[in-house]
Amino acid sequence: MPKKLFIKTYGCQMNVYDSERMAEAMVAEGYVTTDAAEEADMVVLNTCHIREKAAEKVYSDLGRLRPLKAAKPDLKIGVAGCVAQAEGAEILARMPIVDLVVGPQSYHRLPAMARAAERGEKSVDTDFPEEDKFDHLPDRPAATLRPTAFLTVQEGCDKFCAFCVVPYTRGSEVSRPAERILREARVLADKGVREITLLGQNVNAYHGAGTDGGDWSLARLVRELARIDGLDRIRYTTSHPNDMADDLIAAHGDEPKLMPYLHLPVQSGSDRILKAMNRRHSAESYMRLVERIRAARPDIVLSGDFIVGFPGETETDFAATMDLIRAVNYGMAYSFKYSARPGTPAAERTPVPAGIADARLQALQALVTEQQRACQQAMVGREVTVLFEKPGRLPGQMVGKSDYLHAVHAATETPAGTIAKVRITASAPNSLAGTVV
Ligand code: SAH
Ligand code: SF4
Ligand code: F3S
Repeated sequence: MPKKLFIKTYGCQMNVYDSERMAEAMVAEGYVTTDAAEEADMVVLNTCHIREKAAEKVYSDLGRLRPLKAAKPDLKIGVAGCVAQAEGAEILARMPIVDLVVGPQSYHRLPAMARAAERGEKSVDTDFPEEDKFDHLPDRPAATLRPTAFLTVQEGCDKFCAFCVVPYTRGSEVSRPAERILREARVLADKGVREITLLGQNVNAYHGAGTDGGDWSLARLVRELARIDGLDRIRYTTSHPNDMADDLIAAHGDEPKLMPYLHLPVQSGSDRILKAMNRRHSAESYMRLVERIRAARPDIVLSGDFIVGFPGETETDFAATMDLIRAVNYGMAYSFKYSARPGTPAAERTPVPAGIADARLQALQALVTEQQRACQQAMVGREVTVLFEKPGRLPGQMVGKSDYLHAVHAATETPAGTIAKVRITASAPNSLAGTVV
């Protein structure tokens, strides 16, 4: 009987991608994956450290694994991801049921660590090794692939926003060589993947070695990827406003495979707070950037990230954030109450009272929800293309994503992986309905 592996993923899309790659590495070791922790021989928690809640969740989940391990002493438990990187051996001290702790840059060492665990040896690996972990992980097998896939092209961050742990957990910016990315994309396209989302903590800071010996920008990489037959849609996330280069903006205007949706976090609309956050851009420069992007691609849907209750945020600062949201008009936005993270500069500052931050978060989310609904409503009557991904909730229905990343369902028998023109007929809170034209 092959051993069974259960992976639980927290946090961002890069963790989703990493979990897939870890699973592939363990499958090459003879494991099979399972969706049920109870039947697993090995459980890996791929963790997130971005906010306190996310990090603490890991410990409560580990607590819940305790009876499972008591009943099944051979069960091996691993902690991967950003909590593993941030806390390392401390996790073993706090949670003796854990067998291995592996940081995001060391996943190629997971199989060896799992073998050590089987011998009863605990291990911790939070190095930032010279070699590229992805070069040591197996090629992507077809079985697990869907019509859409993530592909990490860049990892790490050199920006050091005052609130953020990512520069510490993911290390400094590293771009993968273009050749490896193109090869991985071709493998994915050959196996039926039609849409790829390029991932990076600062994906538009990409500057990898090109196949011509030069340094390639993200725009150049996108244009080369667009030449791959069968690969029809390209997206990228997350981008930083300061790395939105002219060639990338231009690509939004003339590269048809680059989808008209852009996640462009700004965090706050107050220059005072942006400065305190060490964002190195102003509300005004962000607005000008949005104008230039919309000039290149007028129908682009923008999304953003916002933090409310950053230390020192006044009502006036918060009002400036609300003004910026009104001025931009987002199709989607993610908002968070500021969470003090150990080791970051902002954690030393006096926090905004929780009640005030809660009220601001509610007000901001209400505004954003209104904009999101309006954006969806504006799609009604329009023709969009949809990449169908899977059967819908009702029989005879398929769901997929539009160019603008809206979930769309339609009555159709068309198989997963088909791109079709769809006329949008109605908008529900979280999805659109349409008919295939
Ligand atoms: N590299 C990306 C994503 C960073 S993490 C970027 O620069 O946009 C995703 C989001 O989490 C951030 O955009 C920010 O809005 C939020 N975030 C990060 N640290 C946080 C903290 N300490 N408290 C609350 N939200 C935080
Ligand atoms: Fe964090 Fe700022 Fe880097 Fe984004 S740009 S990962 S928010 S430090
Ligand atoms: Fe979380 Fe690490 Fe991603 S902290 S958001 S899993 S980069």
